[in-house]
Amino acid sequence: MNVYLDAGHHVSFGTFPLRGVELATAMRSAAEIGYRSFDTAQMYENEREVGDCLSTLGLARDDLFITTKVSPNNYAASAFLSSVEQSLKDLRLDQVDVLLLHWPDQHGDNAEALDLLQQAHDRGYAAHIGVSNYTISMMEDAVSRLSVHPVANQVEFHPFLNAEKLRSASARLDLPLTAYCAVARGKMAQSPLLDDIGQAHGKTGTQVGLRWTLQKGVAINAMSTKADNLRLNFELQDFQLSDAEMSRIDALMEEGYRIVNSDLVPTAPQWD
Ligand SMILES: NC(=O)c1ccc[n+]([C@@H]2O[C@H](COP(=O)([O-])OP(=O)(O)OC[C@H]3O[C@@H](n4cnc5c(N)ncnc54)[C@H](OP(=O)(O)O)[C@@H]3O)[C@@H](O)[C@H]2O)c1
Repeated sequence: MNVYLDAGHHVSFGTFPLRGVELATAMRSAAEIGYRSFDTAQMYENEREVGDCLSTLGLARDDLFITTKVSPNNYAASAFLSSVEQSLKDLRLDQVDVLLLHWPDQHGDNAEALDLLQQAHDRGYAAHIGVSNYTISMMEDAVSRLSVHPVANQVEFHPFLNAEKLRSASARLDLPLTAYCAVARGKMAQSPLLDDIGQAHGKTGTQVGLRWTLQKGVAINAMSTKADNLRLNFELQDFQLSDAEMSRIDALMEEGYRIVNSDLVPTAPQWD
């Protein structure tokens, strides 16, 4: 089961690092194009602005699909649930669709944060819960510790990074990956191979890279401030990559290009 893909949210609009007018303009464009799934986080410090914008879109709550993430700064028992209550207040929601732990606990023990995430679910603050930036052993711990099955592990995922071990563990555990940095921050637009495959389908190289991710069974988070890019990133359902094309793109994974690395996030885990 993949709560994003099953509900038709093959692409979510990722709101980091947008704020203010830029955020509101991009969210409105995204909604006009057809995006109904929006991804935010306590760490992005934009939940209130996201909530303000959602309330002006004129969309029914049931049509929206909202993900937020608890910051590791709020993993203490004294802070966790009240921080989620604040997120709900800022987002102007009674419940988010998916609540994630944003990063593994920096002291290496995820048990308390997972228990608190479970409590947030039990209180009705989230319809579904999950994790982000979890390694294979962390995913195994999460699945065995939580009493409801987690629905997502949001990780960096694009054709220039080999996440195959993580992906096969996610299939074994029935804990779907969702992709962040899914357009590799624009790098897919510069790939001659993706561009070449795109020409055969009347698509851009970025669309080919995103389609590759979808055909791996991974739902996408992508951010753009431009309506044209937002539209291109959304229009992925009208073509199919062949097995041969998928294999050619697989070869790009050997580049091992990780954007959100330990220079950027010193507490990032040792990836599998
Ligand atoms: N869980 C986590 O730890 C984590 C970490 C990072 C991100 N995220 C989430 O994932 C979302 C997406 O990740 P991201 O924003 O870091 O990376 P991304 O979506 O891969 O890259 C966004 C950048 O790519 C450009 N871009 C978008 N579409 C394009 C296209 N079709 N052609 C060329 N360039 C394009 C955008 O520029 P323009 O504005 O010029 O289009 C923007 O600068 C975030 O917004 C956030 O919600 C989560």
